[in-house]
Amino acid sequence: MSTAAATSRSVVSARNISVGGDVRIKGLTPTGQSTNTRQELARLLRKINRDHRFRPRRDLAPFVNWSGNAASPIHRWLRYREAYSPNLITKLSLGPAILDPFCGCGSILIGAAQNGYSSVGIDVNPLATFAAKVKLTPLTRAQLTSVRTFAASLPNRLRGIEPWPVPGLSISSKVFEPLILDTILRIRSAFEADFAGDRVVRNFILLAWVAILERVGSYFKEGNGIKYRNRKRLKTGYIQREDGEWQRQRFGSNQKSFVLTAFHAQIEMMLEDAKHWKKGRWAEQHVIEGNALELSRLLPDRTFDSVVFSPPYANRFDYFESMKVELWFGGFVETYEDNNSLRKISVRSHLGADLNKPFEALPQLEQIIGLMDRDASSWRMGVPSLLRGYFDDMRQTLTQCHERIERGRCYVVIGNSAFAGVIIPTDAFIASLGLECGFQKAEILVARHLTVSPQQRNQLAGLEDQMRESIVVLS
Ligand SMILES: C[S@@+](CC[C@H](N)C(=O)[O-])C[C@H]1O[C@@H](n2cnc3c(N)ncnc32)[C@H](O)[C@@H]1O
Repeated sequence: MSTAAATSRSVVSARNISVGGDVRIKGLTPTGQSTNTRQELARLLRKINRDHRFRPRRDLAPFVNWSGNAASPIHRWLRYREAYSPNLITKLSLGPAILDPFCGCGSILIGAAQNGYSSVGIDVNPLATFAAKVKLTPLTRAQLTSVRTFAASLPNRLRGIEPWPVPGLSISSKVFEPLILDTILRIRSAFEADFAGDRVVRNFILLAWVAILERVGSYFKEGNGIKYRNRKRLKTGYIQREDGEWQRQRFGSNQKSFVLTAFHAQIEMMLEDAKHWKKGRWAEQHVIEGNALELSRLLPDRTFDSVVFSPPYANRFDYFESMKVELWFGGFVETYEDNNSLRKISVRSHLGADLNKPFEALPQLEQIIGLMDRDASSWRMGVPSLLRGYFDDMRQTLTQCHERIERGRCYVVIGNSAFAGVIIPTDAFIASLGLECGFQKAEILVARHLTVSPQQRNQLAGLEDQMRESIVVLS
């Protein structure tokens, strides 16, 4: 039976699904879904889509994901796979006062500063809000010089410095080679001591330090979590790489200098980008670490010209899992309770969120859930509760966004997803919820179709065009 087939922002990978061979019951497709069910799903999706106006906008495809930011000054300081492009500001002709209630690492806020606009961003992830704040806080020339001097002094002084304490994350010593761990912790102690009296410089360097962890680590982010570099994925499955050999290939023969080189390169790049701080209304962007579902409480008196956001997609991805190394090592999370409470208040897009919270049912979602394959692991794991909670969270968010806009529009960047033999038309549901929450008009701009794995293509045969990544425009 198929397990959850989840979409990422950019790729839907075969890793997220597995198709068992024990379900070829008569009348079922190779994926275990009955032809009747599929026809019923197609009919239902057509009906849901008919309620809305769709417009192909392939020109928007490059702006709904992170790829452009990876090479853009300031944006590139921290790889945040979930980010979208600041160019949406001009592409969508956003107004001069912008709200992004799921601002992540601050893409829109930086764009707003550079366009001479003002903005407010909210995000529940303290690593994301930290990165956004650092990017929005220009250093003085003297502070930039002190960063440069610090970086240059490092190689000669590391030996005499005590390493920073290892964080309480249980896999801390597994995600780094011992010498690499020792080196990064000594670098941390050095800048914490040198800049104890200057939080702005300390935070700038801390961001550089957090940003290189994955590069120097024995792990990398993949799908819904992290994977270890000592294992290699082949078509047939994972194999163990030879101990000693993979480290040499990855880090070279001098691990300490590998770390120092990565750190220097990161600092150099950030110092180089600092010239982009010369122009921009940096002081007019505000970042709030908090829950977008509490928008009215967080921003009781503010209204905006435009609201733009990309909430987590309903795809089971748990950012607190994939970013756990950076969260713990950066000191943004200090205990497992901290981590869990962040998970619990995040949008119900993953199984670690609070799925016991009440929800208001969405009738068309219930019809789709009714077609889900009950033998699928995603069904057993509780994906129906996740979906119910997800759209309830979106309803609450849209209601509060509607209250914060005076005359402008709300733009929601979103991707559809697939679980247990059904497709969730998230864009159409967001459009319907927007209308329910008080917006007068909804339009769905289809930016691109999501790539699906060969197995998933089989499962979704004939329905692939429903796997869209769109911008829902509410006015
Ligand atoms: C798709 S990402 C948005 C990325 C952002 N557009 C950017 O360019 O960096 C979704 C964001 O929603 C955040 N999030 C999840 N639940 C939240 C909540 N309840 N309140 C605020 N932010 C939340 C996640 O931490 C994540 O950064």
